[in-house]
Amino acid sequence: MFIYKAGVIGAGAMGAGIAQVISFSGLPVVLKDTDQERVDKGLAMIRKVYQSRVDKGKMTASEMDQKMKLVIGTTSYDDFKDCDLVIEAVFENMKVKHQVFQELEKVLPETAIMASNTSALSISQIASAVKHSDKVIGIHFFNPAPVMKLIEVIPGLQTSTETVDDAVAFAESLRKMPVRVKECAGFLVNRLLLPYLNEAAYAYQESSASMEDMDNAMRGFGMPMGPFALLDMLGLDVCADVSGILYDSFGPRMKAAEILGEMQKNNRLGVKNGIGFYVYDESKKADLKPVVDAIQAKTGVKGTAFSPERLVFQMINEAAFCLEENVASPSDIDLAMLAGTGFPQDKGGPLHYADAIGVDVVVEKLKELSKTLGPRFWPAPILKRMVAANYLGQKTKRGFFNY
Ligand code: CAA
Repeated sequence: MFIYKAGVIGAGAMGAGIAQVISFSGLPVVLKDTDQERVDKGLAMIRKVYQSRVDKGKMTASEMDQKMKLVIGTTSYDDFKDCDLVIEAVFENMKVKHQVFQELEKVLPETAIMASNTSALSISQIASAVKHSDKVIGIHFFNPAPVMKLIEVIPGLQTSTETVDDAVAFAESLRKMPVRVKECAGFLVNRLLLPYLNEAAYAYQESSASMEDMDNAMRGFGMPMGPFALLDMLGLDVCADVSGILYDSFGPRMKAAEILGEMQKNNRLGVKNGIGFYVYDESKKADLKPVVDAIQAKTGVKGTAFSPERLVFQMINEAAFCLEENVASPSDIDLAMLAGTGFPQDKGGPLHYADAIGVDVVVEKLKELSKTLGPRFWPAPILKRMVAANYLGQKTKRGFFNY
């Protein structure tokens, strides 16, 4: 199926970013939000991305104008009537998503693809609200959408093969890297990234190290930004939503660190409202120590040790659970983490990294962390089976990959 015109619903940071990517590929794109002020804010965000390219000499001002002309801001569903593919990027509420998809279905051509950019909600459940559920699919971008190469393509239970193939081809036409992921809570990347970020939050509330030191340590490991800077960029509200969905599906190993809920309660949402773990607006400056003290008084846990492994091993362990559930292949898991989170290229992804340090070493370390920090580190069963069968990684020439 050829896509002549696309649409995006929700002109927030993700929606606007997605519309920028689509317009950059040369396709007209309708960008909708509930009121003109939000639409204008989205259009301004897109212009800012293009302007930065003009400033760097990567495009001319007239090329920018041509690209901006491709973006049609609107507050009406009527403007979607000739769209071949629409991506919903509204906030994470199933009721709202159902309403959006039902409105969309009323105006779209029968052949159109209806995609959701949800970070963690069930695509199958979203699809259950519409007649043409075979046309519903997850097309999940990563923040910042104009930069991150990965797109997760997630079929729901009802999605047709044709829709999946069209979504993959569409992602490629945007010059992105699509990875097909089997539907599960958090899909692939969020399912691995959130436990990593959550572990940083545990380490913070336990006063294991300062957040600056932990951010520096993770950059030292090779991540493009530290976990606290990333939590602030993603938004503590978004992270809390995704954490809740992961906990609901996978249980206690995904229990969110108390500090994440407290951040939301204290309206520290991150970059978007000027204060998160870090302070972006000096007028909002407030000490987090009383919050941390109260958590420590309640949990009785403080002064635990911090190491980059503590965070990265959460990622590796969840990758092993994903492999066991056939969420994606080992090479797709690694590729997704490289392209979706900037996991260091030289380490090749969490599974190549596990193979390099030894699967047996990973299991021993997880067992140790499980004893000291709790059962959320309990090794995925597949890891123990691999060790028992001598699949130890590079040293035995076979592990997650063959060497
Ligand atoms: N919008 C558009 N472009 C942006 C941008 C933004 N918000 N932020 C940075 N850029 C561009 C810059 O303009 C620059 O472009 P050029 O190469 O053309 O000059 C380029 O990105 C690199 O930026 P910087 O030099 O300023 O900084 P950097 O090299 O540190 O990169 C980063 C910034 C891309 C954000 C990088 O730090 C990174 O990859 N961080 C990890 C982000 C991540 O993990 N994202 C996934 C989160 S999970 C998610 O999104 C899923 C979900 O559902 C919650």
